[in-house]
Amino acid sequence: MSVVGVIAAGGSGERLGASVPKAFVVVGGKPLYEWSRDVLRDVCDRVLVSVPPELSGVSGQDFVTGGASRSASVRNAVLTEPDANVYVVHDAARPLVEVELVRRCLKALEGVEGAIAAARVTDTVKETDEGGRVLRTLDRSVLWAVQTPQVFRADALRSALSADESVLAAATDDASLVEEAGGTIAVVEAPRENFKVTTPLDLRVAESVLEARC
Ligand code: CTP
Ligand code: MG
Repeated sequence: MSVVGVIAAGGSGERLGASVPKAFVVVGGKPLYEWSRDVLRDVCDRVLVSVPPELSGVSGQDFVTGGASRSASVRNAVLTEPDANVYVVHDAARPLVEVELVRRCLKALEGVEGAIAAARVTDTVKETDEGGRVLRTLDRSVLWAVQTPQVFRADALRSALSADESVLAAATDDASLVEEAGGTIAVVEAPRENFKVTTPLDLRVAESVLEARC
């Protein structure tokens, strides 16, 4: 059975505001995307990295040209390895992922179409109207902050990603596309430490954790 890793590294990193795309910012001595790529390599037969189009010609034979949206970038990688049995999709922006979490996601794939890492919500979450007035307070005990890795049975992910470009652009994760298609997704409890690097502060925190680990 072949397990193919897909690192979504095709974004520009606007909110980080660095001089290069976020996945290529050097952190702890290597580009951000290499941290999670190296973790996925421990559990996958092959790992593809979806990068911004202007970088897809650079060095790596495992680079794939990213798309206009995150899910389009994932789709482009999936189409490069269409014979996989399982895909492990992960954001380059989450460099603190550990092999143990990826393995738990793969284990949770038994009997479902997808298994996704997520942390329990620790803040109180409220829903408002468009004017910012509170409509209700949600029951935190059933809420999850979703992360990656997200692992999928290959046929379920491939068919979910065959949706229109506009549907892919509106999706904030790949599991939601599989859910839309009627697939069952299992949640795998993950540490909050597997956070996404979005802002300069996040990058500083990630860097200090990575350096402490080495
Ligand atoms: N991503 C991608 N292809 C895109 C957009 C995003 O592969 N067209 C990837 C990013 O590289 C990142 C992950 O999806 O690893 C999560 O997206 P996000 O944190 O939003 O990264 P960016 O889109 O790069 O950042 P920003 O939204 O601030 O521009
Ligand atoms: Mg983005």
